[in-house]
Amino acid sequence: MKFTIIGSGSIRFSMQIIGDIAKTPNFHGSTISLVDIHEERLKASYILAKKYVEELGVDLNFEKTAKLEEGIEGADFVINTANPFPKEHDDGFVKYDIVTKIGEKHGYYRGIDSQELNMVSTYTYVLISYYDMKLALDIANNIKKYAPSAWLLQTANPVFEITQLLTRVTDIKVVGICHGFNGVFEVFNTLGLDTKDVEWQVAGVNHGIFLNRFLYKGENAYHLLDKWMEEKLSKWEPKNPWDLQMSPASLDMYKFYGMLPIGDTCRNGTWKYNYNLETKKRWYGKFGGIDNEVERPKFHEQLRFGRRRMIELANEVEKSRDIKLLKLWPEIFNKDKLSGEQHIHFMNGITFGDKKRLILNVPNNGTISGIPDDVIVEVPVWVDKEGIHYEKIDPDLTQRIKIFYLLPRILRMEWVLEGFLSRDIKVLEEILVRDPRTKSYEQVKKVLNEILDQSFNYELKEYLNY
Ligand code: NAI
Repeated sequence: MKFTIIGSGSIRFSMQIIGDIAKTPNFHGSTISLVDIHEERLKASYILAKKYVEELGVDLNFEKTAKLEEGIEGADFVINTANPFPKEHDDGFVKYDIVTKIGEKHGYYRGIDSQELNMVSTYTYVLISYYDMKLALDIANNIKKYAPSAWLLQTANPVFEITQLLTRVTDIKVVGICHGFNGVFEVFNTLGLDTKDVEWQVAGVNHGIFLNRFLYKGENAYHLLDKWMEEKLSKWEPKNPWDLQMSPASLDMYKFYGMLPIGDTCRNGTWKYNYNLETKKRWYGKFGGIDNEVERPKFHEQLRFGRRRMIELANEVEKSRDIKLLKLWPEIFNKDKLSGEQHIHFMNGITFGDKKRLILNVPNNGTISGIPDDVIVEVPVWVDKEGIHYEKIDPDLTQRIKIFYLLPRILRMEWVLEGFLSRDIKVLEEILVRDPRTKSYEQVKKVLNEILDQSFNYELKEYLNY
C-alpha cells in the first residue's frame, strides 16, 4: 500500500503517523511518500523516518519529494498536515503574528480572524483561509488525477472549512480528523470515573462539540459534574495554557447550553470570555488560555524549537548511525504505544475491516437533527471495510446548542466558503462589518488594505482582484 504525508516536516504528525503505520503489521511492506516544499524539513523527516523504522525493525519503504503529483501518484491514503507559509518567512505562523498585530492596531483584539465561535484565530487566516484552501484543492485535484480511489485524511486546519469545501466542490473521498474530542477523558479523570464504565457521545462541528451522552454505570452522570462544580471549581487551577476542559469558561458554557463543551470548544465561545487578557484569565485561569498575546507567541516559539531540534537530530543521525532515536526522544519515537491519533484506526478499519469507533468529520446526512444534510459534522462513527457507519445521536443536542452555537458557526463556515469561491472582497468586508469590534466602514477598509498590502499576501490580493 502507499501512504502519502503532505507537510511531512510537521513534527506533530508525521513521526506519530509513521510510527503508527510501522506498529501495524497489516501495513508492513508498504511505501510512505513524504511531501514537503521545505527542503531541509523534508530531508530531516526522511532521515528520521527511515532511522525510526529501522530501530523498530520493520520493513517500510520511503520516498521523498516536493511535488504533490509525485507523492500522490498511486496512493491509497493521503494525509494533509501542511501549514502553508509565505516565501519570505518559511514559517506559517509568522504571517499570523503579523496579521494579528495589524488587526490590533485597527481595533481588533487578537486580529480580524478572532471571531465569535471561532476564537482560535490562527485557524481561518484573513477570513477565508485562502492559502490552506488553495493547497487542499490542489491536493484534491492531484488525487482525482493520480490516485482516484485514495482517501484524503484532512488534518491541517481549518478542518471544518476545508473538509466542507472538498466535499462540496470535488468528488474525492475525504474525512476530517481532529484529536480535540480527547477532552472527554480529562472530564472522566477529573471526576474520578473509570472510562470503561462511562458511555459517552459527542456531537457538533469541528472545535464545536458537546457531550450529549454521559452515562456512568448506565446512569446519567451529569449530576457528578454538578457536584464537582459546587465543591471543586473554585479551587481549580490550569496546569498549563492548554488545560481548559474544566475551566470556568467551559463550565459556564455547560450551564448556558445544558451540555458540556469538549476540547477546543470552550476556546471557541463568545467575546464574554475573550474581551482582553484580564477577562481571559478570569475565565480560563492564570494563563488566560492559549489564545492570547502572551501564550500564543510562546507556543509558536516552542514549535520552532521542535522543528530546529528535528533538523539537528537528522544531521546527527546522518553523521552517526549509533544514535538511538527511541532513547533520545521517547515522546515522539517509541516502540510499543500507538500515538493516539485516529488516522491509523481509520486506515486499518477501512482497509482490513478492523472495526473501530472514531470521532470523524463527515457530512451530517440527518445525524444531527435541524442541521443541513451536507454540512460537515463531528460525530461518533464506526469504520470498517464497508465504510463509515454513523451512530444515532441520542440524546439530541439541546436547542440552545443548535441556535446559539452550531447554526451561527455553520453560517461562519458558509461565509468563508462564499468568500473563497466568489473571490469577492465585499464578502470579507461584510464579515467584518458584522464584527462587534467594528465601529465604521472606514475601519474595515483600512484594516483589510493594510493586511492585503503585506508582501506575503500579494497572491491573495491578486486572487481577490483587489
Ligand atoms: P508545521 O509548520 O510544523 O508543519 C507543516 C509542514 O507543512 C511544514 O514542514 C511546511 O514546510 C509544510 N508545508 C507548507 N506548505 C506546503 C506545501 N504546499 N506542500 C507540502 N508541504 C507544505 O505545522 P504543525 O504545527 O505541525 O501544524 C500542521 C497543521 O495541523 C496546521 O494546520 C495545524 O493547525 C494543524 N493541527 C491539527 C490538529 C488536529 O487534531 N487536526 C492538531 C494540531 C494542529
